[in-house]
Amino acid sequence: MSESQAGAARPVGVFDSGVGGLSILKALRAQLPAESFVYLADAGFAPYGERGDAFVIERTRAVVRKLRDEHAIKALVIACNTATAAAVHLVRTEHPDLPLVGVEPALKPAVALSRTGRIGVMATRGTVESTKLRALHDSLKDQAEFVLQPCDGLADAIQNHDLARVRALCEQYTRAMGAFGNEAGKIDTLVLGCTHYAFAWDTLQALVGADIGLIETGEPVGRQTRRLLGAAGQLRPGDMPGHTTLLTTGSQEALEAAAQRWLGL
Ligand code: DGL
Repeated sequence: MSESQAGAARPVGVFDSGVGGLSILKALRAQLPAESFVYLADAGFAPYGERGDAFVIERTRAVVRKLRDEHAIKALVIACNTATAAAVHLVRTEHPDLPLVGVEPALKPAVALSRTGRIGVMATRGTVESTKLRALHDSLKDQAEFVLQPCDGLADAIQNHDLARVRALCEQYTRAMGAFGNEAGKIDTLVLGCTHYAFAWDTLQALVGADIGLIETGEPVGRQTRRLLGAAGQLRPGDMPGHTTLLTTGSQEALEAAAQRWLGL
């Protein structure tokens, strides 16, 4: 095996504060079946969303270090909106040689989809209050009206698979955003701006109505990762399926149960 083939055989690192990034891992595995992945859930330090930038930056740095030193990752997907908002620029500066993909709430695709021009965005408080989301919002606010909803506790409830609390919080936050519907003045598109929320998809869809468009980011992140690996000459050679390793700073059992539940892993 040549040196560049050996390099391309290394895994892609994927990380989130917990189980949310599994929604991104699912799309990555579907679009890049030959790749190997190391998924790290920083569940011992979750949730990130209400802890402030300094904490999220420190955790992101530690996780990236670990994935590079112990698993020799060839690329990194930050499968967490909160960590992307707080730290992607630092990771880029500190690891200029590492192909990097972050996630951000899909405001742009929502503008293209919405007919009423009123769009709901659910995210963690950290993401909603970030400079990064503010800048994205400001660049699009002439094209649509956004209702930005911080959803304290929701990622944590999904992380702990507390279905009653997930339902109660989804109900509370969708109600707080105002009316949903296809008539003028109503929200017809809902952006899931936290990777955990993809696992509350059915609950949210039932609450806002079947004709409201829900948007999450797994697929575009998968496409972008494939593009980046291709451009770097780092796509894993051959058509043997890659393998996925699940790691966590919290409960291994809980992570494996979530991966089994949502990905059939
Ligand atoms: N899944 C994460 C996100 O996309 C963060 C959840 C949390 O830890 O608060 O924002």
